[in-house]
Amino acid sequence: MLRRLHKEQPASFEFTPANLAWAKGQMTKYPEGRQASAVIPLLWRAQEQEGWLSRPAIEYVADMLGMAYIRALEVATFYFMFQLQPVGSVAHIQICGTTSCMICGAEDLIKVCKEKIAATPHTVSADGKFSWEEVECLGACTNAPMAQIGKDYYEDLTPQSLSRLLDDLSAGKLPVPGPQNGRYASEPLSGLTSLKDHEGGKAQYNASVQLAMDVRDGIKRIDGTEVPLLTPWLGRAEPATPAKGKPKEPKPAAGKRVDETGITVQEARAVPTGAPKVSAKQRAADAASVAQEKPAGLTAARAGGADDLKRIKGVGPKLEALLNRLGYYHFDQIAAWSPAEVAWVDENLEGFKGRVSRDGWVEQARALAEDGKD
Ligand code: FES
Repeated sequence: MLRRLHKEQPASFEFTPANLAWAKGQMTKYPEGRQASAVIPLLWRAQEQEGWLSRPAIEYVADMLGMAYIRALEVATFYFMFQLQPVGSVAHIQICGTTSCMICGAEDLIKVCKEKIAATPHTVSADGKFSWEEVECLGACTNAPMAQIGKDYYEDLTPQSLSRLLDDLSAGKLPVPGPQNGRYASEPLSGLTSLKDHEGGKAQYNASVQLAMDVRDGIKRIDGTEVPLLTPWLGRAEPATPAKGKPKEPKPAAGKRVDETGITVQEARAVPTGAPKVSAKQRAADAASVAQEKPAGLTAARAGGADDLKRIKGVGPKLEALLNRLGYYHFDQIAAWSPAEVAWVDENLEGFKGRVSRDGWVEQARALAEDGKD
């Protein structure tokens, strides 16, 4: 199946303030310069907010993460969980059509969707409220046939119960998810035949239905205010010395790269693969022999605001803040650095030494300053 962007696109996209705070929190999970790792959660949040992923939304996320648009587009078009066309304003119905569900009547459920929603999948109903598609196994095979509606599973469906669900949703109700035929979970319909001791004292609903009933955000468009923003990894002070008995951070063997993904500080300092080995003594002597000169900085960004330095590959929020502290706010400042100035900045980027020359910041900044292109 070809997955393309929809022919009609909105003019723009932006996260709600709370979703933006959430997205920025997610980005801090990843090492400096690797914020692109947050692409799936951010695209998913954009979809939760709007119901589907528009081109402006994909580009907005790419901009936040300093990615080329094509890279974010590749992710969005690869995963079927991303909806690339508008969905119903109330709900998008996903009918499982895989073996168990098919044997138990999924085709009849699809007939209901064709009659009540639209003749073809990924088409919004005439009243704008619903859309539907057939999906692969959703892992609830013992309760086949089933459908995912919003975030929740509706199981043990019949054409009649699905039709009723659609009517209820259309009327503004949020039906109780889970089995629709009276089963508690996935036990035999005629009742338990073993492990009967566990029948007493159970809650009204099974655990996942109970959670859905507690949260009640199954078909809600998420604006970020539903639950508090939790970023427990932020502000956690590093212990000065490792606690007794705690395994030490693995260290690279001398002269070897830490890993092939190149995400660590050690890797940034490591000898590039293929380069001749140079002793630490020799490196220090080399560094000392290169003339260094601090580039002139500004006390603040010029009128019109600072450039988004994160557009330079390898610069993330932390490095951008560090550059700003040193007085560098604009692409044209970095583009004008001489070799001696590059050497100075390379030496003075605490924790990120050598990044300027390693990632070719001057060339990148020159292109960005000249024509605004990555
Ligand atoms: S076959 Fe439908 S949920 Fe597995």
